Amino acid sequence: MNKIIPLDPPIDTRLLDAETKVLWDNIQLDPELAAQSQIILEGQPFYSPEFLGFVHIYRALAEIIPPHWWIYDLGCGFSFQSWYFRNHAGYVGVDTDNTPIDCRLCPPNAIHIQSTIEEFVQSNHHEPNSFAICNYVPPWHGGSGEIVRRHFENCFVYYPSLIEVKK
Ligand SMILES: C[S@@+](CC[C@H](N)C(=O)[O-])C[C@H]1O[C@@H](n2cnc3c(N)ncnc32)[C@H](O)[C@@H]1O
Repeated sequence: MNKIIPLDPPIDTRLLDAETKVLWDNIQLDPELAAQSQIILEGQPFYSPEFLGFVHIYRALAEIIPPHWWIYDLGCGFSFQSWYFRNHAGYVGVDTDNTPIDCRLCPPNAIHIQSTIEEFVQSNHHEPNSFAICNYVPPWHGGSGEIVRRHFENCFVYYPSLIEVKK
């Protein structure tokens, strides 16, 4: 008999909430980023400071990626997580018109690009010290995970889904 097993790890939602709150509070300490964050949320009635994206994953990555490296956040969404990389060499956020550039958080070291991941990686060279993040990006435009793995030596690609395992 086949059994469906969710690949998503059990997340302690209280911890997740606490981490998201810390991120939001930190963003509010910077007047420029605070203003940006308020504008982003005003334009997105379904969004709120309780959910800024999958922040726990980005926080963990920010701790292990050397600060002199460039971050390519492929499928960055509203990019609140760019705050974690504000002291890295640079942060490049890539997303489609699903999240327009003026709806993304933009710390001083960030650049935002409107493109599909597939078009971006095929038509741009990336910095030598680079790390690509492709987190929770659904396969709407094909297999972005595969193409990211092919173009970046160092990357984190993660999209949880259901798998079937034989019991
Ligand atoms: C669920 S959000 C995840 C946002 C962020 N990576 C995170 O982990 O919080 C998925 C994002 O991927 C973007 N996306 C999906 N397919 C894409 C593609 N092929 N190229 C660029 N962005 C894509 C969507 O527009 C959306 O903003």
